[in-house]
Amino acid sequence: MRKKIVAGNWKMNKTLQEGLTFSTELKELLNNKTINCEVVVGTPFIHLSEVSKAFKGTKVHVAAQNCANKESGAYTGEISAAMVASTGANHVILGHSERRAYYNETPELLKEKVVVALANNLTPIFCVGEVLEERESGKHFEVVAAQLKDSLFELSKEDFSKLVIAYEPVWAIGTGKTASADQAQEIHAFIRETLTEKYGKEVADNTSILYGGSCNAGNAKELFSNPDVDGGLIGGASLEADKFLPIIEAFN
Ligand code: 13P
Repeated sequence: MRKKIVAGNWKMNKTLQEGLTFSTELKELLNNKTINCEVVVGTPFIHLSEVSKAFKGTKVHVAAQNCANKESGAYTGEISAAMVASTGANHVILGHSERRAYYNETPELLKEKVVVALANNLTPIFCVGEVLEERESGKHFEVVAAQLKDSLFELSKEDFSKLVIAYEPVWAIGTGKTASADQAQEIHAFIRETLTEKYGKEVADNTSILYGGSCNAGNAKELFSNPDVDGGLIGGASLEADKFLPIIEAFN
């Protein structure tokens, strides 16, 4: 059966020292606790190696927030999937709406990133989600279906099975305006249905679909109690260990 996952995305926050303080704090908070989900911490590139070391021997996984679409070579300033993997991180967030909107990441580019991430044994957490006008005009289903199809649906069944999907409505990110539990369930079920049509029921049933967008200690339990919501991708509320912990514990 599919995994329950709570993943943090620090975005462009925290110095290296602050990242290490967080890691020590979270490790202490999780020590001797029963955790019923996989925990992932998504840090900026420069933190990956140290944060991976800090969580070594624990159940906490580490994620990059991006990687290059090329394997290696003359791409000044880029960080490859192999480099990410060499730090001890084993996940990578791809297709975040901030990367799509501010850095012009296209479906074609994301398709390439997913392929290199998988080739380097990283688990992509692939983000989809509509903007407010698309939600208001009822286009969210077709937008999300197109995001899945355009970047992922050339993958083999075997490769697709290695992915985690995150549904993050752009209007809910950093706004304090969370999707309601019903809205989340409705579109998560739609995503699973879309995956069933393409890859069959077994793959769809085994794919974890996370919700992201103003998810916090106060609403996590309700959101995660939906049958098709398998956890969360958490921004703001993942920045402090004592605020992140209750979201992890929402599965207890
Ligand atoms: P917030 O939790 O801050 O809304 O961010 C969600 C997000 O974008 C996680 O990737």
